[in-house]
This record gives sequence, C-alpha cells and structure tokens, in this order.
Amino acid sequence: MKELFEAAKNVLPNSYSVYSNFKVAAALRLKNGDIITGINVENASFGLSNCAERTALFTAYSQGYRKEDIKELLITTEQDDLISPCGACRQVIRELMEDDALVHMTTLDGKTKTVTNKELLPFAFTESDL
Ligand code: THU
Repeated sequence: MKELFEAAKNVLPNSYSVYSNFKVAAALRLKNGDIITGINVENASFGLSNCAERTALFTAYSQGYRKEDIKELLITTEQDDLISPCGACRQVIRELMEDDALVHMTTLDGKTKTVTNKELLPFAFTESDL
C-alpha cells in the first residue's frame, strides 16, 4: 500500500481545486501491478467538477481496463481527518470495481481506514436492477 499511497501523494499537487482549495488524489492498483492516478478537477460551473476517484476510474476504463483488472483504490487529501468518497463516487466505484475490492482512505500523516466496495455502498442500485 505504501507505493499506492506515494503515487497518490505525488499527484496531489496536480489537483485542480481552484474553487474549494480542497485537494484530493486517488490511485488505483491494477492486478497487473500498474498504478493509475487521478485528481479532482473543478469548474466555474461547480456541478461539473469531477472527483479524484472518478478521474482515476474513468482513466483506467479509457485505457481499456475493466473491474476485473482493478485490485484496489486509495484516496488521500491534505486534511487532518480521513475523508470518504462522496455519494456520486460510491455509485461509480460500485459499478466500476468488484464488490470485494478494497477502498483505502488515507491522510498524509498516516491515518488509514479500509473498507470493501460493498461496505462503502450497501443496498446499491446496480445493473442487475435494470
Ligand atoms: N472530492 C473528491 O475529489 N473526492 C471525494 O471523495 C470528495 C470530494 C472533491 C470534489 C471537490 O473538487 C472538492 O473535493 C470539494 O468537495
């Protein structure tokens, strides 16, 4: 997990969070060992902002990876306390990662909390409901 954390920490300064000044970075570990990162990208039309988790997952999918290729997701911020993925990201994580994939929430000073995808969004609306 150290390598994944370092990857997220390294891209944290790239966060385009000019409105909230709230930097978030995410790093995905693929089962082939590769790491894909993402940061939050904000917009003057606030609702169009994209969270770090979704940036990382959409990047992975854009490169052709799918849920079975992704092992875990880590997020980090500059905040003292851990933050957990927002509701929109939970819905996207639920669909784009496997149910038992791990989601690690971290802080720069070493706090960590890990849950499974399914724990993050129980009783989800999924493709099986369609
Ligand atoms: N944000 C994320 O990137 N991930 C989260 O899980 C929570 C919130 C971003 C969205 C926005 O750019 C900023 O943090 C403040 O909400």
